[in-house]
Amino acid sequence: MQHIILDTDPGVDDALAIALAVNSSGLKVEAVTTVNGNVGVDCCTRNLSLILGALGNTKVPIIAKGESQPLSVSPVDASHVHGSDGLGDVTRLCDSSGNRCYPDMPLPAVAACAVDVILTLVKRYPDQITLLCIGPLTNIAKAILTHPIEMKKTREIILMGGAFEVYGNVTVSAEFNVYADPHAAQVVFDSEIPITVVPLDVTHQVLLNAKQFEKMCIRHNGKWGRFLLDCTRSCFEFHCRYEGLDGFYLHDPVAVGYLEHPGFFDTVPAYVQVETVGELTRGRTVADLRSDRIDRPKPNAQVCVGINTGQFLGYFLDRIFAFA
Ligand code: BDR
Ligand code: CA
Repeated sequence: MQHIILDTDPGVDDALAIALAVNSSGLKVEAVTTVNGNVGVDCCTRNLSLILGALGNTKVPIIAKGESQPLSVSPVDASHVHGSDGLGDVTRLCDSSGNRCYPDMPLPAVAACAVDVILTLVKRYPDQITLLCIGPLTNIAKAILTHPIEMKKTREIILMGGAFEVYGNVTVSAEFNVYADPHAAQVVFDSEIPITVVPLDVTHQVLLNAKQFEKMCIRHNGKWGRFLLDCTRSCFEFHCRYEGLDGFYLHDPVAVGYLEHPGFFDTVPAYVQVETVGELTRGRTVADLRSDRIDRPKPNAQVCVGINTGQFLGYFLDRIFAFA
């Protein structure tokens, strides 16, 4: 059983990733920590409780609210993609009697400081904790900056972020999670903790088809299916309108997929750095992924460069609808 801390900024695709992770029989999610990202951290934390409520989940022992500001840059968000509440505006949906379809869930006890929770768990389970990071890396960087020795006892960091040989999704150069806090990402890559990167290079190979997913949600015919339908709707619409896509990319679920099924992926070792100052290229992840080069710097990460899309989607759709 792998001990996991899931660090997230929910987020529509985060919601799908959380569902995969907390219901996996092979993963023990010790804590879910939130961070400023797709929307503000308070909203992300509220979304987390809503998602866990929709899942009927009582398994996550600790929820902790994380950092509200990136290390050095001003906050950005992705509410134009994920909705003003970060969950496709489900919190505004009302039934025919005017009652909210998804009222705020009573929050389970939320620890005040995600960084403290991460440090406590890494110390409690030395060399056993995997940090699964699907938002900006601010919490992780703060833990490393304040307690570098203790954090070396992290077993692995798996992070969704970066763009190497493809365009970015927030600027031409950069992927959102790294762009939102590039200095934090650089701290993480400098940490000497084993890292696997799940960048746009692979997540852009996994499109969730809108029509197929909608049909499956309707067929599911339960509370969870309705929630999935409602929270993904505006995300599908956004990608159709602005990118001409008949679906959206499963960025964060792909990172969970790597954790559970690394065999679906091709990886290469690489020395990854982050552009923190470039006006046009802020947040670009830079690495030489060519395996035949001599004199390459010592790798600090494994970078996912290929994915078996069919196998991943099979796993994803099976798991995501396996709830009552
Ligand atoms: C990442 O950015 C966020 O908007 C998504 O939740 C995902 O973590 C993709 O670039
Ligand atoms: Ca995310």
